[in-house]
Amino acid sequence: MTGWLGSAYLWVKAAHIVFVIFWMAGLFLYPRYLIHHQQGLDDPAEPPRWEQREALMRRMILTPSLIVTWLLGLALAANIGLFDGGGGLGWLHAKLALVLLLSGYHGWMVGYSRRLARGVARLSLKRLRLLNEVPAVFVVLIVILAVVKPF
Ligand code: HEM
Repeated sequence: MTGWLGSAYLWVKAAHIVFVIFWMAGLFLYPRYLIHHQQGLDDPAEPPRWEQREALMRRMILTPSLIVTWLLGLALAANIGLFDGGGGLGWLHAKLALVLLLSGYHGWMVGYSRRLARGVARLSLKRLRLLNEVPAVFVVLIVILAVVKPF
């Protein structure tokens, strides 16, 4: 499979980065919505608005970009021999582990917003604000692994 993308390789990589940017935009913004949603739980007019905004963002940005980023990323991974058992891809294994965790964070966010829609707020606003920073930390580490390839 190594090199199977041929001359499409750079196009696929460019598309991968574009969809990564879309996904990250959603991962940065969605938890902020959750804070506003939780703050508005006592006002009957607020929750339905946030539920609508969250559903729209999931449908238009978060879900499609998660799927396309993964598909293109896996195509690139096959292109550089991840599935051929070759060596020298420690950075990619580490990156995949971090991206899996980030996908888990994505799932947690969606679950939390479904609970907010039922009026359940499990975390304090302070903790929710702290969890907002998680994607930024992951992006720093993932981009270093993808670009510097330190091991
Ligand atoms: C969803 C699963 C993902 C997989 C399977 C994956 C896999 C890959 C692979 C195999 C490459 C090509 C490396 C090369 O040909 O040298 C690549 C490039 C890249 N990826 Fe991902 N990736 C994923 C998600 C992400 C995420 C979440 C980010 C950023 C937060 C990211 C950022 C990048 C960047 C910046 C490059 C370009 C690196 C370069 O050419 O210098 N990727 N990715």
